[in-house]
Amino acid sequence: MADELLVYGSYGYTGALVARTAVEEGLSPVLAGRTAEKVERQATDLGLDHRVFSLQHPEVVESQVEEFAAVLNCAGPFSKTAEPLYSACLNAGTDYLDITGEIDVLEAIAGREEEAEATGVTLLPAVGFDVVPTDCLAAYLHEQLPSATRLSLAIDGLGTFSPGTAKSIVEGLSTPGAVRQDGRIRSVPAAWKTRHLDFGRGRKPAVSIPWGDISSAYYTTGIPNVETFATVPEYAATLMAKTRSLAPVLGTKPVQKALKAVADAVVSGPTPEERAQSVSRIWGEVTDDEGSRVTARMRTPDTYDVTAQTAVESARRVAEGEVGPGFHTPASAFGADYVLEFDGVEREDASQRSAVGTSVGE
Ligand SMILES: NC(=O)c1ccc[n+]([C@@H]2O[C@H](COP(=O)([O-])OP(=O)(O)OC[C@H]3O[C@@H](n4cnc5c(N)ncnc54)[C@H](OP(=O)(O)O)[C@@H]3O)[C@@H](O)[C@H]2O)c1
Repeated sequence: MADELLVYGSYGYTGALVARTAVEEGLSPVLAGRTAEKVERQATDLGLDHRVFSLQHPEVVESQVEEFAAVLNCAGPFSKTAEPLYSACLNAGTDYLDITGEIDVLEAIAGREEEAEATGVTLLPAVGFDVVPTDCLAAYLHEQLPSATRLSLAIDGLGTFSPGTAKSIVEGLSTPGAVRQDGRIRSVPAAWKTRHLDFGRGRKPAVSIPWGDISSAYYTTGIPNVETFATVPEYAATLMAKTRSLAPVLGTKPVQKALKAVADAVVSGPTPEERAQSVSRIWGEVTDDEGSRVTARMRTPDTYDVTAQTAVESARRVAEGEVGPGFHTPASAFGADYVLEFDGVEREDASQRSAVGTSVGE
């Protein structure tokens, strides 16, 4: 796969992990981004070709993506970068993937389904940690209980953040939470619900967060009610609920700019040593209207390492034509067991306590 895959935003914290992983997997993607010096240096280090272009002019973006089989977008926040790239891909006949977890972005891409079918283009967003493991767990739970009408997913141990993730969180500070109810996405107050969930090591408080699965899990499973949670220390849950009234202030342009500058200055992303020690745990539950309930858990390595692995493998499969045209989620494209193909990922059926795939060794 010489010139078949373009990685945009390849020199950001996550993009750099993706580019390195691609090379380790024997691929030769072309690297791209808007800052010439950064992309040139990276391409020289990795011995890869590169392109320099910003996303401001649609005709430029289209002419840059048309020679490739697929584009993997690692430049975020995706609220700024996804639309110019996937619109160009739809016009050029190039497949599009990204590592977004932003609900609005996922919904906008899902809205281009018909166009993608008509132009023969594959749209496969969210191929990072957010949402590959949770999407696969949602698909697995739905297979166990096809009559399910409610899905809850929760994450324990999001680890430390890279600058880009910190900036996406800053953008999220001013936006309310979100749930899916009766098939529609609805705004709810930030941290509106707390549940005490067992990720395999006793119960922990988890507050509702607007994770990408609020969008994607519906397309994967058809389950019309979806809630997503993340664990936080008890004091943080209280603080989040108390600071809801600050949301309008946090959303103003000067405050957003200042907070993003802070993120750039103080957040450098986890070191390889920190990543090697970091583990994430995922819990999922489906229920139906008759009162049946199935729960399952998953354990994964560090979120950034998972992202690099799943993004590269998903892009390889799409570039090689393994996924048909139209809008897909990771599990609708590759199945509920896809995530179990990656080193260190384990799933356990918590309802029956019987291990599936490799066992969860506590
Ligand atoms: N799905 C997941 O699980 C997952 C995992 C990790 C990260 N992420 C997301 O991925 C994104 C990147 O994270 P990161 O840690 O790599 O951030 P980062 O280190 O700050 O890198 C951001 C990259 O995006 C580029 N970029 C930003 N805005 C751009 C724009 N308007 N036009 C063109 N390029 C732009 C930057 O280029 P310049 O330096 O030239 O500005 C840089 O290459 C974030 O949104 C993060 O939340 C998702």
